[in-house]
Amino acid sequence: MKKVHIKSFGCQMNVYDGQRMADILGEQGYEETATPEGADLILLNTCHIRDRAVQKVYTELGKLRDIKKAQGAQGQETKIVVAGCVAQAEGGEIQRRQPAVDLVVGPQAYHRLPELLAEAAGRRVVDTDLPIEDKFGFLPATKPQVIRARGVSAFVTVQEGCDKFCAFCVVPYTRGAEFSRPVAQILSEVERLAEAGVRDVTLIGQNVNAYHGEGPDGAVWSLARLMHRVAEVPGIARIRYTTSHPRDMDDDLIAAHRDLPQAMPFLHLPVQAGSDRILAAMNRKHTGDEYRRLIGRIREARPDIALSSDFIVGFPGETDADFEDTIRLVDEIGFASSYSFKYSPRPGTPAADLDAQIPREVMDERLYRLQGRIEHHRQAFNAAMVGRTVDVLLERAGRHPGQMAGKSPYLQAVQIDSDSDRIGEIVRVVIERTSTNSLFGRKCGAQDDPRKEMAA
Ligand code: SAH
Ligand code: SF4
Ligand code: F3S
Repeated sequence: MKKVHIKSFGCQMNVYDGQRMADILGEQGYEETATPEGADLILLNTCHIRDRAVQKVYTELGKLRDIKKAQGAQGQETKIVVAGCVAQAEGGEIQRRQPAVDLVVGPQAYHRLPELLAEAAGRRVVDTDLPIEDKFGFLPATKPQVIRARGVSAFVTVQEGCDKFCAFCVVPYTRGAEFSRPVAQILSEVERLAEAGVRDVTLIGQNVNAYHGEGPDGAVWSLARLMHRVAEVPGIARIRYTTSHPRDMDDDLIAAHRDLPQAMPFLHLPVQAGSDRILAAMNRKHTGDEYRRLIGRIREARPDIALSSDFIVGFPGETDADFEDTIRLVDEIGFASSYSFKYSPRPGTPAADLDAQIPREVMDERLYRLQGRIEHHRQAFNAAMVGRTVDVLLERAGRHPGQMAGKSPYLQAVQIDSDSDRIGEIVRVVIERTSTNSLFGRKCGAQDDPRKEMAA
């Protein structure tokens, strides 16, 4: 068998795409290998979101060129493929900067990998079309043994692309316009996953709560409706979705957090900043108070929900006062976790051309302070779990013999002492202590309705 090494950078959509490319290449006789050394095909699935992400790709490509050369000297032919968002954004420029690259394939063209690889025999090829055809219809179904090897939690892309055009963001350009997969296609994928043992699905999309896919009845289905239907698939115990935009959190979706036991009490809802002036300049289409009110409604529906966000510090024109608004918002909401980034000017985005770019030292200082507050709230959220009973989905063997590791409904890593339970089971656990990145608990029974404890 030929060997392929796939390395994905960036968001969950890339993780999913990487898996689907492995599925396609599996049909072509490739098996996956964990290291680039010895591989016949090396595929980098890249991210263009910040400059650093792009630099990483070129550094990596330098190393791969050396591997390709060394393997060539031993008589082994090695092909290098660049896929993902850098492929889409930079196209043939990648091969000008790194001539060892054989094929550049964009995120909407990778279903054509087999033909493209054949074409790339002896010459360089670029395919960054954003075609109208739905690539998902061309992807082979993932094999049950592959699903089992990937574990009991799985991503399913339900939506792609974005029409929001936040002033800092490349996604609308690298992933194209918003597109929702039809419900029937998603359901058959979820059914296959569940049959192979998946219990926890995360429905993903760059703007997932804008989902508006064609239902089997011909009507347009919302994300809430899709979640209710996915919850009916036997075996699926947990449903999450990411990433959402505040503007698309409709009443039905909020209600699903109250009414649907499978809807997990975790929501990643990026706000980016706390200052209305900056939010407007970012073209986020909401104010800080609109976001606060929205969080209020979500917490009314599901009081124990764990919230998370993304933040950008140092957007052009951000003053100290603007930044204080971000800190204030973080302290008011009390996020269970969050990601935060220094603003990175991206070619072709409106914010890159703005005056008043913020000096690096100022960004460093703001990021440091913000991350301190985020970490404080994360630790507080975790510490408040001690003494509580939660359902833990067991995902794998633990760090030490006799331990198992899993996830709480709030997406926290939990370690329990157990050697009798099986991966994929959901057990009730009393949380006894926390460390920086995990909760530790003792098993106290089988799954119960998580909402009972909220009422208690
Ligand atoms: N669709 C999601 C996020 C996509 S990108 C949303 O709407 O929020 C993931 C995160 O990267 C963003 O939430 C943002 O915080 C960050 N990001 C995007 N562009 C960036 C840039 N130019 N500089 C720094 N961070 C950026
Ligand atoms: Fe980027 Fe904004 Fe779209 Fe999120 S909503 S992907 S940040 S343009
Ligand atoms: Fe990066 Fe593309 Fe995802 S730019 S964050 S891999 S959509």
